[in-house]
Order: sequence, then C-alpha cells, then structure tokens
Amino acid sequence: MERQELIKKYIEFFEKKGHKVIPNSSLIPENDPTVLFTTAGMHPLVPFLIGQKHPLGERIVGVQRCIRTGDIDQVGDTIHHTFFEMLGNWSLGDYSKNEAIEYSFEFLTKILKIPKEKLAVSVFAGNKDAKKDSESEKKWLELGIPKEKIAFLLKENNWWGPAGLTGPCGPDTEMFYWKAKNKSPPKIFDPNDENWVEIWNDVFMEYNKEKNGNYVEAKQKNIDTGMGVERTVAILNGFEDNYETKMWKPIIKKVEGLSKKKYRGNEKPMRIIADHIKASVFIISDGVMPSNNERGYVLRRLIRRAVRYGRTLNLKNFTSKIAEPIFKIYSDYKFDKKRILDEFEKEEERFEKTLEKGLKILKKESDLVHGNNLFSGKKAFLLYQSYGFPIEITKEILGEEGIDVDEKSFHEELSKHQELSRTASTGKFKSGLIDESKKTTRLHTTTHLLNEALRKILDKKITQKGSNITSDRLRFDFNFPRKLTEEEKKKIENWINDKIKKNLSVKKEEMKLDTALKSGAQSEFGTKYPEIVSVYTIFDEKNPKKFVSKEICTGPHVKKLEELGKFKILKEESSSAGVRRIKAVLK
Ligand code: ALA
Repeated sequence: MERQELIKKYIEFFEKKGHKVIPNSSLIPENDPTVLFTTAGMHPLVPFLIGQKHPLGERIVGVQRCIRTGDIDQVGDTIHHTFFEMLGNWSLGDYSKNEAIEYSFEFLTKILKIPKEKLAVSVFAGNKDAKKDSESEKKWLELGIPKEKIAFLLKENNWWGPAGLTGPCGPDTEMFYWKAKNKSPPKIFDPNDENWVEIWNDVFMEYNKEKNGNYVEAKQKNIDTGMGVERTVAILNGFEDNYETKMWKPIIKKVEGLSKKKYRGNEKPMRIIADHIKASVFIISDGVMPSNNERGYVLRRLIRRAVRYGRTLNLKNFTSKIAEPIFKIYSDYKFDKKRILDEFEKEEERFEKTLEKGLKILKKESDLVHGNNLFSGKKAFLLYQSYGFPIEITKEILGEEGIDVDEKSFHEELSKHQELSRTASTGKFKSGLIDESKKTTRLHTTTHLLNEALRKILDKKITQKGSNITSDRLRFDFNFPRKLTEEEKKKIENWINDKIKKNLSVKKEEMKLDTALKSGAQSEFGTKYPEIVSVYTIFDEKNPKKFVSKEICTGPHVKKLEELGKFKILKEESSSAGVRRIKAVLK
C-alpha cells in the first residue's frame, strides 16, 4: 500500500465512523502563536480543543503536513524526518478513550491487516500530575494484546503536549510494530529495541497546562491521534528503512545520480540531504523565504546543512535538482515550482560564496584548538556573521574532530549583535535584525487599527481569526461572508490613514483579564490569556477618555501613530469558508 492509498483508507474508515474531513492546513500555524511550525495534526484544531464549537461537529479526521525540527539530530536514521505527514482522528469532547483504542486496533488489524503478534503498546505509568492509565491497559488486554506487550512508561514517553507552552495535553498510548524481517517479535516488549517502531499515538487530552505550569483537568476531554504516514507505508511494504519507500526513493536516486555514489555506505549524508530538501520544498511552498529570522532561519539552516552534507559527496549547485522529484511524489499538492526552485538556487549561491572560505578558517582555527578541545564562541560567531555558518554546522564539523564549541559565549556574542526579545505571552524566541523588528512593530500596531476599521466600516461583529506579520507586510484574517468592494477597501484605508495623520498615541497598561474584557478590550479568537494581561489603547491626547482601539496584546507597539507612514491594502481574498484575508503594507 502506498501513501495516497493509506491516506484514502484511513479517511474512509473514520468517515464511516461518523468523522468529517478537515483540509490539510499550512505549515504556518494560524491560531497557535506558541509554535513556529505546525508540528502535529492537532494545531489547526487548537481553538476547538479548548472549547470553541467546530462547524463540522465533534468527530474530525484528516491528514496534516508537519515540520519537526526538534528531532533534527535524529534525522539520518531510518525513521525520523523533518517533514512528514500525520494522519489523525479527533474527538472534540465526544468519544471515550476506549472507543479511540478500539478504532485504532480495528484499523491496524482489519484494514491494514497487521497481525496482532507484531504489535506492542505503551501506556502512561502515572506521576504526580496524573494517574496511571489502567483504563487503556484494560482495553488493550481485552483486545488481545498480552500483558508482556504492554509497557508502562513515564512522562518522557507517554505524555503528549502541550505543543507550545500552554494548552491541551495528556497521557497517551502508543502503538509499535515489529519491523525486523529476519527475527520474530520477542515475547516481551522492550521499547528500547529499535526493531519496534512507533506508528500511532492516541493522546487523551484530559488536562490543560496553564501559564503558571500547573496541569488542570480539562473541561472538555478530547482525543487527539497521530499516525505517521512515512513509517506506516514503510512497514506495510516490508521496508526497515523509510527511505526505501516511493516517498523517498526517487530523491535518493537523484542524489546517487548526481554524486555518482551509492546509497549503501553513504546513507547518513544522503538521507539528510533528501530530508532537508524535502522539508524546505514544503516550507517555501507555504510562503517562507530564507532569512535570519524565525521560520526563515529554520529554512536557511535546512538548506545550508543540506549544502554542507552535499560537499561531503562532492555535490555542488545541486539543491534545486534534488527538489525536482519531490513535486512528482506529492502530485496531490499544488506547488509553484519555479519560485521554489529559484529560492533554492539563490540560497545555495549565497552560501556557496562564503562556504569555502569559512571551511578554511574553521580548519585553521580548529587545528589551533587541538589540545584544549574547545572552540571559542567568538570565532563561531564570526563564522556565523561573516560566513553564514549556522551554529549547528560549525558544531557538527568540529564534533567530527572531537572539538566542542563554547556555545554559551557564542550566544552572548549573538545577543550583543542582535536585538533579543521575549514576548511575554508566548515565550517565543524572537531574534532578528533591528530594523526588521521595527518594521514588524509598526505593522503590529497597524493590525490593531485594521481590526478596528473593519468593525467600524463593515460590521461590528467582526473578530480576528488569525494574523501573521513579516517585516514587509501584515496579513489579517477575519470573519466576513463576502468579498469587499473597492469602495469599502478605500474607506478602510482612509479611516486608518486619518488616524495616522492625527498622530494618535498608543499606551500600554497591565490589568486583570476580566477588567480588560469589561473595559471593552478586544481579545483574539481561540487564545487563552493569563490572569494579568497587557492592554494596548490607541487614543487621541485631546480626548483621552475615548479610545479608538483597545486590545489585549503582548506588543510591542509604536508610541505615536506618525511612525507608521501610509497604509495600503494589497489584496483582499477568501481564506476559508466565511473568513476573509487582507494583506496590507505601510509605505
Ligand atoms: N499530537 C499527537 C502526536 O503528535 C497525536 O503524536
């Protein structure tokens, strides 16, 4: 069974059990500011997992593209990938864990026809925050999984979430498949034996982690599951290595062809190259470009790491060529091929210019430190700043020679040169060039004005459904049933430009959440706020009692609106059913 058939079978199975299908969403999460990328199928569902009613009901199924950079050190083995697809079925306060486990078991054994003997499971052993999951154990025993094949594990293994800092989470039960062909599964399940590969995870979202770190029982108990498409396809086709499947083989073949080397004996660099380029194709496709900031920097590191590993196979100017077969493998996605290939070529060229020199410096400097085995953070920073070497690359190259990098002093150097800030609500690490962050701040304040303008000009019931800001533009999603007319767009622009012209002021106050809401402050759809929040008010100094806009927000914002310049709408389009999207700039 190949990828598309597995996805089809999974979705059909759960549709028959009353689930409705949701679309495969962007890798850039719309409603979860606590993560840079969509890392699991549950991200698009966050507002609904915490109580909002889903328009499709309480049973949901879908396949979701995901990026996980947390596992990057493991990429190069047979089963970990930066980009992967996750199948999932969700119960939003509907069915119980027993039912979820029954569905998983039925799908694995009846639809995929996996023999029960090749399965093992793990369940949560319990700790101070939550009790031992005896219910799941009982269900697995009932379904015929012998007790030797049930492992009780602690939080590191059998607890999932929250994906960011706060939110829904809980114990899980994981399903493993015995993949070794030449050895039959041992009687007792040892989760550390690599022949057992985890293919599916049923999470019982019974808790909410709050800002203060406490786990409180969730009002709505949900089921969140995730089955890895790559791993499942590999086992269904009898492969012990995911890269043997049709999802990877054409990419590996391309690397073999270009390098004139065989996969056997070069597995690690070839897997890393294939993995990083595939992830980059999808990240670029969802609108990110290489940069020194957040998502753009993740992308830059992936491409540059692929280029560096390419060097070890004597590959040059190769990334866009490796990207080509990916479009064919994922023919059910829409790609702007030319734009994607251009981005690869540009980024590779940029790195190419400094790579050789950087490598020479690295070699020279590392020869000098042999003996004390610590490479200075200052030098690692020089390589980053002047030669575009992400710290991981420096670390990796030196690591091969047994040399460590003084990362602490590297980060000290980095923070001296960059403006570092931590947004209070998300703890999200924001680093970037100072002028970029000024531009973002201006657009952030403009977003508040736009939010208000839409309510004033179109409908007072409008609320924010999503927002995304880069240093060049803002993007704002809101509920509205139809396309905006030219006249309406003009009115919105004029309203905002009028406020800018009047040079209104922006002030920040801290207050209790309920005081903020009572005072008329806008809050964002689906966001959970701490007890004390910051409120930003835009007002006229001449009439300080009245406000133009008031929002709960972590900032930062400009102090006076004259800093903004001129507001212009670039585009107004549909984002999803009943939701419109505006892209706008400041000139
Ligand atoms: N959200 C769960 C996971 O990623 C299903 O494993």
